Amino acid sequence: MVAVVGLGYVGLPLLSAFHRAGYAVIGLDNDPKKVKALRAGENYLEHLGRDMVRRMLAPPDGGRFEATDDPRRLARADAIISCVPTPLGPHLEPDLTFVRNSAEQIGRTLRRGQLVVLESSTYPGTTRQVMLPQLEGRGLKCGRDFFLAYSPEREDPGRKDYSTETIPKLVGGVDARSTRMAVALYRRAVRKVVPVASAEVAEAAKLLENIYRSVNIALVNELKTVLTAMGIDIWEVIDAAASKPFGFQAFYPGPGLGGHCIPIDPYYLSWKAREVGQPTRFIELAGEINHAMPNYVIERTALALNERGQTIKGAKILVLGLAYKPDISDVRESPSIELIAKFRELGAAVDYNDPHVPATHKMRRHDLKMKSVALSAKKLGGYDCVLIATHHSKYDWKMIAEHAKLIVDTRGVMRRLGRKNGKIVQA
Ligand SMILES: NC(=O)c1ccc[n+]([C@@H]2O[C@H](COP(=O)([O-])OP(=O)(O)OC[C@H]3O[C@@H](n4cnc5c(N)ncnc54)[C@H](O)[C@@H]3O)[C@@H](O)[C@H]2O)c1
Repeated sequence: MVAVVGLGYVGLPLLSAFHRAGYAVIGLDNDPKKVKALRAGENYLEHLGRDMVRRMLAPPDGGRFEATDDPRRLARADAIISCVPTPLGPHLEPDLTFVRNSAEQIGRTLRRGQLVVLESSTYPGTTRQVMLPQLEGRGLKCGRDFFLAYSPEREDPGRKDYSTETIPKLVGGVDARSTRMAVALYRRAVRKVVPVASAEVAEAAKLLENIYRSVNIALVNELKTVLTAMGIDIWEVIDAAASKPFGFQAFYPGPGLGGHCIPIDPYYLSWKAREVGQPTRFIELAGEINHAMPNYVIERTALALNERGQTIKGAKILVLGLAYKPDISDVRESPSIELIAKFRELGAAVDYNDPHVPATHKMRRHDLKMKSVALSAKKLGGYDCVLIATHHSKYDWKMIAEHAKLIVDTRGVMRRLGRKNGKIVQA
């Protein structure tokens, strides 16, 4: 029996993968709304498919799935996997409150023979230095009485070509027996399991993957500003370079970074690096460039309006896409939120449309209190500027291209459509 703690973007698909593999599963979340929804067969993560939870509850499998907010149920599981959030504090420092709380919760009912795995993205050393002490409190010894490992989640919500089952899984235990136990657990649910030397190697590998993305996205974002000033189209340059079959991987520019991983995880390493007195210049520089992107988009919009004798103050602006990437509803750290807040500060009247996000909710830094407006040819023509922030596949780009008066395109959508004219500005 496998228990998953934290049923969000990572935990819920993982729970479902273990269920499909034939395990009995317990899903624990301390958000009673989520537990209630799951018990009713509802899936609150649209991109995983409406029927996913209903299928888990349907006979003959119904008895193999339990959703609960009661941590005492963890005592029944043979393996417990923690997928709780790892956010940043106000000064970009790691906030391990959720990891600590979940470890403490697991520790309270820990029994002989149980395997505990942490999947949350975090700095190297978290499993051994933060999780382990909470678990060893009751006289049980790791590697002998219970087992502890780290296995990073590599979920990419909305991705169609890979699933939890087909994304190779890294596994590193705090000792050799823990690694073997965790490999045995995942092997039944995931096609390829890759054991590594330690929990620390697995933790650092996850950060390397995300830092690699952050740095390369920053590189193309910087090149975008340089090449645009030279009158060269960055998208054409990337396509040209990508014709090289080796030694180059295409990354694409955008309005800034979003999501729970790329804008956050690199800072976990830069914080930890201070402990060993080492600078992390690539991480800081990439963060600086990527964070500056919303301001660049605002500047490009201001210049485009200026060309038409208009200002941002008083302009009617429609932002297309609130989610941070296509075809999902996740708005965490989304640059669209930042853009809307900044446009409003500058005196614009802003609306947004997102087929996946009907209304905004209160977030850490913003509470926009907005509802997605309907899209129509007539409505589009009523805006001074339409800003393409997220390229959801549901959008009718031809209709948008025809009826918008001015398009600021941060995703290279219009050029892929073959549209290049005076009313389209790349940003
Ligand atoms: N979202 C992604 O695409 C993604 C990809 C790879 C890795 N990760 C990492 O996975 C981790 C989880 O991310 P997420 O996006 O799934 O977060 P999420 O916010 O979607 O889900 C976390 C869930 O944990 C629950 N929770 C918090 N503390 C709990 C506790 N003590 N007991 C029970 N439930 C608890 C919350 O209620 C929430 O439902 C993070 O470390 C993140 O960096 C996320």
